[in-house]
Amino acid sequence: MRRLLVTSALPYANGPIHLGHMLEHIQTDVWVRFQRLRGNEVLHVCADDTHGTATMMRARQEGRSEEELIAATNSAHQADFAGFDVRFDHYGSTNSPFNRALCNEIWAALRAGGYVVEREVSRLFDPQEGVFLADRFVKGTCPRCGTADQNGDNCENCGSTYAATELKDPVSTLSGARPVLKSSSQYFVQIERLHDFLTRWTQESGRLQSEVANYVKGHFLGEPLRDWDVSRPAPYFGFEIPDAPGHYFYVWFDAPIGYMAATAEYCDKTGASFDHYWRSPDVEIVHFIGKDIVYFHTLFWPAMLQAAGFPLPARVHVHGFLTVNGEKMSKSRGTFLLASKYLEHLDPGYFRYYLASKLGSGIEDLDMNLDEFSARVNSDLVGKVVNLASRSARFVETTGLSERYPDDDGLFAKAAAAGDEIAKAYEACDYARAMRSIMQLADRANEYVDRKEPWKLAKAPDSAAELRDVCSVILNLYRQLAIYLAPVLPRVAESSAALLGAPFKAWDETKVPATGSKVGKFTHLVARVDPKKVAAMVAAHVPPEESVGAGGAPAGGPARARVTQSAEVAGTAAVDTARLRDTLSDAASDDAAALAAEPLAPECSIEDFSKLDLRVARVVAAESVPEAKKLLKLRLSLGAGNERTVFAGIKSAYAPESLVGRLVVMVANLAPRTMKFGVSEGMVIAAGPGEKDIFILSPDSGAKPGQRVH
Ligand code: MSP
Ligand code: ZN
Repeated sequence: MRRLLVTSALPYANGPIHLGHMLEHIQTDVWVRFQRLRGNEVLHVCADDTHGTATMMRARQEGRSEEELIAATNSAHQADFAGFDVRFDHYGSTNSPFNRALCNEIWAALRAGGYVVEREVSRLFDPQEGVFLADRFVKGTCPRCGTADQNGDNCENCGSTYAATELKDPVSTLSGARPVLKSSSQYFVQIERLHDFLTRWTQESGRLQSEVANYVKGHFLGEPLRDWDVSRPAPYFGFEIPDAPGHYFYVWFDAPIGYMAATAEYCDKTGASFDHYWRSPDVEIVHFIGKDIVYFHTLFWPAMLQAAGFPLPARVHVHGFLTVNGEKMSKSRGTFLLASKYLEHLDPGYFRYYLASKLGSGIEDLDMNLDEFSARVNSDLVGKVVNLASRSARFVETTGLSERYPDDDGLFAKAAAAGDEIAKAYEACDYARAMRSIMQLADRANEYVDRKEPWKLAKAPDSAAELRDVCSVILNLYRQLAIYLAPVLPRVAESSAALLGAPFKAWDETKVPATGSKVGKFTHLVARVDPKKVAAMVAAHVPPEESVGAGGAPAGGPARARVTQSAEVAGTAAVDTARLRDTLSDAASDDAAALAAEPLAPECSIEDFSKLDLRVARVVAAESVPEAKKLLKLRLSLGAGNERTVFAGIKSAYAPESLVGRLVVMVANLAPRTMKFGVSEGMVIAAGPGEKDIFILSPDSGAKPGQRVH
């Protein structure tokens, strides 16, 4: 059994959690859940990274204290993580007494080891705000090529890097004032003294992905390491350096120590031993981080730990960035997708699975293509995995699984044997490979279902025993998949375990088939992704000043003109935004046309309305009526075994298989109507003029079949 301490990078406390952060946290959470399922001991901690100028300035702008600001973001962050089923043993804050104590301890060790030097340095100072300016708070003209409005450390036009003090015509982005040079003393850590150690440590096999190890070697370790500037003069929101009054630890000094502090807080809360994790040779410390902060985690952080005599990370796993529809997430394009807004529209499991299906062990960026997102989740999760249970469970609801595991042409044994390869892929963080293997097993299982056709056995006389056997095989194959997927889809694992009567506790349960156990009532495990909800989620991110219709602006052309004129968006971004804008303006003009085409009905009373009994219903089966041009025959479930047959004139707009599993709203107290093809016992509510333009209404996620619509 391994003892693992696992972390994600500490998110900055001055902004909300977006899906890019979530990529990292889901990657970590999947790994943690996988390790636990394998029987390893894991402590999973994280915290908000609270200190620095950015927090200080934001608190000033909002007219509240830094403490108030970071407390508010901390609870928002925790809610977002919980919403995506990212589960921590502890989620703390770097602004904690534990962190201060650990910073002081490590600082004392660096001092005692003679690593610290003090020098006078001239830095840019904003005379209006009274603060020293970090590079990213300065803009100016590039000293090399003369392009105006460039960042404090590099030029986007010519690509050169420079010190902020070299910029021509510098401007503070905080106040717009012209910064002045002001000298202050600064404290530096001489990490060059640990150069050999760092070369060895970073190049040791298994520690870093090979491309990361090469990058660090090529970019930093080929020349002497520059002294690291770890102090900032007041005013600064952070910890004052104990033996240097008026000077504060730079945020990147105390942030990684936050990993230790979060552990200390956890130990304080639970009575566990801090030394068990941070003073033990048996612990494997594993950090998950993004490619932008490699430098800090492969040079500064190990240097600090080494100098202070703490255990070093066993592994630093680096991932690429999340892009949306092929481009960097962007606020103006409405693709800066926030975790909280995603959760208002979509199931977290979709994103967890989609990410896992695309996340390899390398550091390439991962693109979230919104069409592919819906398609992949629907075809894999709904179409291949959940389908197994939905096509078999109800037939063994009363009998339970067969007492002896039946002959299955070796399918179960093959899937059990695949477990080792799948585990290797998870361990290597190659979730895409794991998902591919799992989906291949799902394909084999579905072939079996198609061959055995349990729904036909259910109707045939004298095949009760065979039906039970066939469904026992299908459910056992399903159970293996649900366990293999459990790290990614904990909710599906939980409801599947409930369906099959026993919680999933260990990976190796995939090696032994379940027999004789009861089978619970099948409830739908994952609903299909509704692409309209994906669109609504994106629309909810479009900045208000660009939204169409809200201000009564006429639909059509003007929206595009306004967006392309916006100074903020340029090039392809503008084109993209314009496209999104067009979609929204089309929607706006449709709105007007629809109302004109069908004027409002005469007023009715609330009593009139309440005569209609509208219910949420689940489509459990759908087939086309071959003799009828417009009709689909739907089987609708109102829950608790109450099912209705409804003939709906929606064939022109919906393929029957696309409806199975989804929720609809039905008129449940409509008098039954005898039609040529059978009796229709209700009506499904839809909008639109007809033909291709028919839109079935669906409730927001969370609604249950049988619930009344008021
Ligand atoms: N506070 C520092 C980390 C300190 S760790 C001791 C920080 N914070 S951050 O909020 O900017 O980023 C947190 C993590 O999210 C980083 O690992 C970063 O790489 C990751 N990501 C931020 N944007 C991302 C994407 N668009 N995609 C994937 N990961 C992204 O850096
Ligand atoms: Zn330049």
